[in-house]
Amino acid sequence: IRLRAKSGQLVGKKVLITAGGTREALDPVRYLTNRSSGKMGYALAQAAAENGAQVFLITTVDRGNIFGVKRIQVESTQDMYEETRRLFPDMDIFIGAAAVSDFKAAHLAEHKIKKQSDAGLTLELTQNPDILKAVGHDKTEQQIVVGFAAETQNIVAYGQNKLIQKHANMLIVNDVSQADTGFSSDNNAVTILVPGHEPEVLAKTSKTEIARDIMTRISSLK
Ligand code: CTP
Ligand code: CA
Repeated sequence: IRLRAKSGQLVGKKVLITAGGTREALDPVRYLTNRSSGKMGYALAQAAAENGAQVFLITTVDRGNIFGVKRIQVESTQDMYEETRRLFPDMDIFIGAAAVSDFKAAHLAEHKIKKQSDAGLTLELTQNPDILKAVGHDKTEQQIVVGFAAETQNIVAYGQNKLIQKHANMLIVNDVSQADTGFSSDNNAVTILVPGHEPEVLAKTSKTEIARDIMTRISSLK
C-alpha cells in the first residue's frame, strides 16, 4: 500500500527537482566536479512530498530514499539536461537546485591520460547546455520554473539578470561568500527574487526550514 499526503498545497501536482553537483568525465578514471552536497535539493524534495506533491528528483548524489519521491540518478550535466527535458513536459513545477557544471571536457579521453615527461597539462573545456534556461524558455503558461544561483557580490543585480535571462518565475540566490552557508552546510541564507516583486532576504536558518518556506512561496505563485 502506498500512502501519500492527502492534504497539502501541492496535492495533485508533479514537481521535478535537480540536486547535487554534476560530474564531468575527463578520462575513464577522472572527473571535474564541485562542492555541492545535494542537501538543498533533497530538502526541497522532502518539503514538496510533505505538501502532497508527486516528486521526481534528478540527482548526482545518493542521500537516501524519501517517501513519495522517485529518484533518477545521473552523473553529467548532459545526462541531467536530457532527463530534465524528458520529464519536464509532464510537470507542473521545476526547481533547479543542482550545482551544474558550466563546462565539460572538449574531448573525452578514451584511455587514462598519462603524464608526458615533466610537462604540465592544459585541459580544453566547452560549455554545457544550460538546463534552467532551456526549461525556462520551454515552459507553458501553466508551468512554474524556479532556479537557484550562487553569487559572491552584487547578489540582487546579478540575480535579477539571471531571473530575466532564464525566464524563471523565481530565483533563489545564495550568497556563497558567507561563512557557514551554502555548499555542504546544513544552513543557508538566501535572497528570493520574483519578477515584479521586491527582493526578499530570508534569515540564515536550516535548509529544511528554507525548503519549506520556498515550497510555500512556490505554491502561492499562481
Ligand atoms: N544552470 C543550469 N545549467 C548550467 C549552468 C547553470 O541549469 N549549465 C543553472 C543552475 O542549476 C542554477 C542556475 O543555473 O539554477 C544558476 O547557476 P549559476 O552558476 O549561479 O549561474 P550561471 O547562469 O551558470 O552563471 P555564472 O556561472 O556565469 O554566474
Ligand atoms: Ca555557473
